[in-house]
Amino acid sequence: MSKLFRNPIFCGLDTHDLDEAERLAKTLVPVVGGLKIGLEFFYAFGRSGYERIADTGVPIFLDLKLHDIPNTVAGGIRSLLSLQPAIMNVHASGGVEMMKRARDVVEEEGDGRPWLIGVTLLTSLDAGDIARLGVEGSPSDQVRRLAAAAQEAGLDGVVCSPQEVEVLRQDCGSDFKLIVPGIRMKGESADDQKRVMTPSDALVHGADILVISRPIIRAADPAAAVENILADLPPAA
Ligand code: C5P
Repeated sequence: MSKLFRNPIFCGLDTHDLDEAERLAKTLVPVVGGLKIGLEFFYAFGRSGYERIADTGVPIFLDLKLHDIPNTVAGGIRSLLSLQPAIMNVHASGGVEMMKRARDVVEEEGDGRPWLIGVTLLTSLDAGDIARLGVEGSPSDQVRRLAAAAQEAGLDGVVCSPQEVEVLRQDCGSDFKLIVPGIRMKGESADDQKRVMTPSDALVHGADILVISRPIIRAADPAAAVENILADLPPAA
């Protein structure tokens, strides 16, 4: 599925500095599959900041994780579609009805529509955190429930941690897109990611898109860091 993109690597533009983001984008456009723009960037720089990055022509994953009542999420998605992101997302815990309404709006775009992706369980939550919220079972059980809800609602796929890729690939079949952060090369610092996997292992387990930020944007030569990751991928990726 990453065949739609040059390669499976989407780099998170996690910086507060718009000029820096634009410089990074220009450097990375020739080597990445796409770039990810998140809450911090979008709340700071808005649509005009987004457009400065999108003007490079790179596919963009607009990672705003919408979560509200169905009508409000549908309206939010409608407002964002004019930016023409390649991928956008909502929280799967917003429920099947909310996800269906979001999907219906995205489908109005026809063939060129973005992928609509469900966020499962935030990787910052562990077993103790979800128990405190009254969620039964392990984080993996909850991720599987949320992925099933996203699939029932007709979403294109989910965001999940590397640890759930294999089981979700089995649960959800080969067409369901799995977008995976928490990726690190062997021996590299995990930063604050608690559960990491190498790019090649994540792809072998069934990931479609790898979201990688700090190992690329903090490198002395970000494009070379991407080339280094690409060199380590299995040939089919
Ligand atoms: O720097 P690093 O490679 O850890 O960044 C991963 C990117 O993926 C960041 O933009 C982070 O916000 C995002 N992300 C994540 N875990 C999730 C969802 C998104 O790390 N569950």
